[in-house]
Amino acid sequence: MDSYLRPNMTFNVLDDLIISVRKTWDDVGFIPTPLAISTTLLALLLPFITLFVFALTQRETPLPPPAGCHKIGLRGRSNLSDQYAKKHASGGEPTASNPWTVKALFIYPLKSCAPVELEKSDVIQTGLRYDRQFTFAQQVTSLPNLDGQVTSEWVFSTQRTFPRLAKVEAEVWVPDPSSSHYDPESEWVKSEGCLAVRFPFTPDSDFTLQGLKNCGKMLAAKLAGRPEPMLEFRVPFNPTKEKIERMRYTKEKVKIWNDYPVALNMGSEVPYEIMAKLKYTLGVTNPLTLFRIDTEGYREVYKNAPKKQDVGFQTIIGMQDSYPLHIMNLASVHHISSNLPSGSPPLSVLRYRPNIIVTGPPPFSEDSWTKARIGGRTYHISCRTTRCKLPNVDPDIGIADRNQPGSTMLKYRVIDQGSKSACLGMQVSVLEEGEVGVGDGVEVLDTGEHLFLKK
Ligand SMILES: *[C@@H]1O[C@H](CO)[C@@H](O)[C@H](O)[C@H]1NC(C)=O
Repeated sequence: MDSYLRPNMTFNVLDDLIISVRKTWDDVGFIPTPLAISTTLLALLLPFITLFVFALTQRETPLPPPAGCHKIGLRGRSNLSDQYAKKHASGGEPTASNPWTVKALFIYPLKSCAPVELEKSDVIQTGLRYDRQFTFAQQVTSLPNLDGQVTSEWVFSTQRTFPRLAKVEAEVWVPDPSSSHYDPESEWVKSEGCLAVRFPFTPDSDFTLQGLKNCGKMLAAKLAGRPEPMLEFRVPFNPTKEKIERMRYTKEKVKIWNDYPVALNMGSEVPYEIMAKLKYTLGVTNPLTLFRIDTEGYREVYKNAPKKQDVGFQTIIGMQDSYPLHIMNLASVHHISSNLPSGSPPLSVLRYRPNIIVTGPPPFSEDSWTKARIGGRTYHISCRTTRCKLPNVDPDIGIADRNQPGSTMLKYRVIDQGSKSACLGMQVSVLEEGEVGVGDGVEVLDTGEHLFLKK
């Protein structure tokens, strides 16, 4: 079996082939010319070459970019590319040699799916612009009651139950008046751009023509450095009233934890066959759909949020779990990482799905922050983030570990009085709208107690 896995297998086969051809010619007393050798080789290799070329023709042709729009996101190396470096592990008082700064910024336009990294972002009441606007939801039907009646509800999808969501990519394309195809009347421009959703799908490969084509698709994906071929669909980012009516999107309740916001069910926008393949990839058996938060129906946050009588407004969110923003201190993640069982790979901060990642403060200094200035704006640090099992999902592969880092965190991060959950990171409400960018300074304005309040 081993030799099948050797990368230089082709060369061994080629060597063997040349030797056996020569041997046959020797036996019949034929003196091979170089031309004879290469002609014979070519004839023998032709079927493989044909297959290879066929594979290349099966490559997915990517959809053309949405007209008049550009994709948001960092171009170039991630600002987290050195996140495991020792210098980020310790931190200390803010000084000229240890500035407290924003290290990286991330949004998750489609809840529980892959992040989009940014270098700067608008901050609006609901958090970073474009963050958590959409969520997948599955329809869950109850067992019949005594009268034989069943009820069903849409329940948001999360990596906690469907870890493969980590492999679903969500791109945001926004209208760009400087683009040569820009047309204010075009579909995407009128809808504030579009959300492009891409997910891996491995098709069947059997001994039919379609199976052969599928083999070609997979080979082409591998040659392009992808473990699996990707499928894509697009939906308007913020559909117009006219579009909502034409596509018959419905406004329905969707359950997010203990909250039931009324949101826009945009399932009719996703072709049936694509949805079926997405369900297969995720391992969802119930009906699945895509919801968008209703921009006129943002969810109000009361628990631990700034009080309306103090600040003049109520904190609101889109499809977030509970608060507009989530901040993490890189040194704290290093601390957890250093306490994992020996031999564990280093822990990526991305497991915790933060929006703003800061460096400079010592580990867990953020536990007591209550108000901070980041860039030029002030933020209310509302409470600590209690941790469920989601950080056990490795975002690179979309597979959940049974224990880690959850077990390690339970050992020393159960710090909210009255709670049995571990905490890491801070939940933040916006006090002033504005901008935030990588490299911005972080200044703590107030510290204090944080209370655990039951939902
Ligand atoms: C963040 O990443 C971008 C893109 O690679 C780079 O241009 C920028 O300098 C980085 N910022 C910092 C503060 O490292």
